[in-house]
Amino acid sequence: MIRLEGISKSFAGKDGPVVALEGIDLSIAKGEIFGIIGSSGAGKSTLVRLINLLERPTGGEVFVAGERVTEARGERLRELRRSIGMVFQHFNLLSARTVAGNVAYPLELTGQYGKIEIADRVDGLLARVGLSEHAHKYPRQLSGGQKQRVGVARALACEPQVLLCDEATSALDPQTTGAVLDLLRQINRDLGVTVVLITHEMDVIRRTCDRVAVLDHGRAVEQGPVTDVFLHPRHPATLRLVREAEPDDGSLDAISSSDLGSCVARLTFTGPNAHRPILGRIARENVVDYSILAGRVGHIREAPYAQFIVSLSGRDVAGAIAGLRAGGVDVELQDRSQSGQAAVFSPLHEERALHVV
Ligand SMILES: Nc1ncnc2c1ncn2[C@@H]1O[C@H](COP(=O)(O)OP(=O)(O)O)[C@@H](O)[C@H]1O
Ligand SMILES: [Mg+2]
Repeated sequence: MIRLEGISKSFAGKDGPVVALEGIDLSIAKGEIFGIIGSSGAGKSTLVRLINLLERPTGGEVFVAGERVTEARGERLRELRRSIGMVFQHFNLLSARTVAGNVAYPLELTGQYGKIEIADRVDGLLARVGLSEHAHKYPRQLSGGQKQRVGVARALACEPQVLLCDEATSALDPQTTGAVLDLLRQINRDLGVTVVLITHEMDVIRRTCDRVAVLDHGRAVEQGPVTDVFLHPRHPATLRLVREAEPDDGSLDAISSSDLGSCVARLTFTGPNAHRPILGRIARENVVDYSILAGRVGHIREAPYAQFIVSLSGRDVAGAIAGLRAGGVDVELQDRSQSGQAAVFSPLHEERALHVV
């Protein structure tokens, strides 16, 4: 649906060019919810402005639905922009217009619809976002969550193929955030609209997205299914964003396997394994003791996961690891050759990890 090839963008600054994006390759499939996460200044909003064609890249190409849009001009450019709906962090509603008036506005701008058709469409849109009763209120009479629902209805008015949300929930409290994310998922499911969610919060990604790209200093440093990126973050920037969502996870830094005289492993249980009592059974069968050093449990969208960092010691640690893997548990072992570094786990270093046991 959206493809970015070798995108770079720099701005003229006082002391020479400021590079906001560099060498970005991204591909967003039709109908998915794609997340773009990064901390402040990473280049997220710049990327949004390239996707919604408000800015042109310094280098590279943007494709929307197979069309190379980087060179689009005039009426075609306006048409393409209409096919992309935008939801903003601060709602950007017109305070002098009612809820219905705000949603009608983009339809009026096209000059393509009569009054009755607009009123019909606005009714449908307000019903979809659950605001029918508030049609005649003004933005100042609404809560933050309701304002953002107006923002979503307005973004959908011209029946876009893509909904771009730049920090759409960042001004909302956690409960309202959840409700707005649910709404976005429902719209994605019901209308098949491709949703691009830009955020600095890993929780938003975890609850909502199919795939995610991590931006750091203008580069896409990691991308893939949310399950992979969230449970097996590789880049330090990703790790930082995951940790921000789980402040207690700092205990991982304290793990030093040399003190423990055992093998330190990260066990990830997903799917049916998230609820199976497999760890205890495997430990008994292999006469292995385990202690849990850190852990997290929760959901990625609807799918439960559990992830524990354990130290294993006893008769047949290798047998226990093999048993866990055979049972579908994802086992990664701490790489002891990288001592001094906090908790580096890898599925490949079984020998190096076991050597010292
Ligand atoms: N119009 C602009 N002129 C100069 N620098 C800009 C402009 N827009 C963004 N930047 C710079 O590009 C970088 C990325 O900004 P931005 O895309 O807003 O990041 P984010 O949305 O992730 O916080 C920042 O260093 C910012 O200062
Ligand atoms: Mg931004």
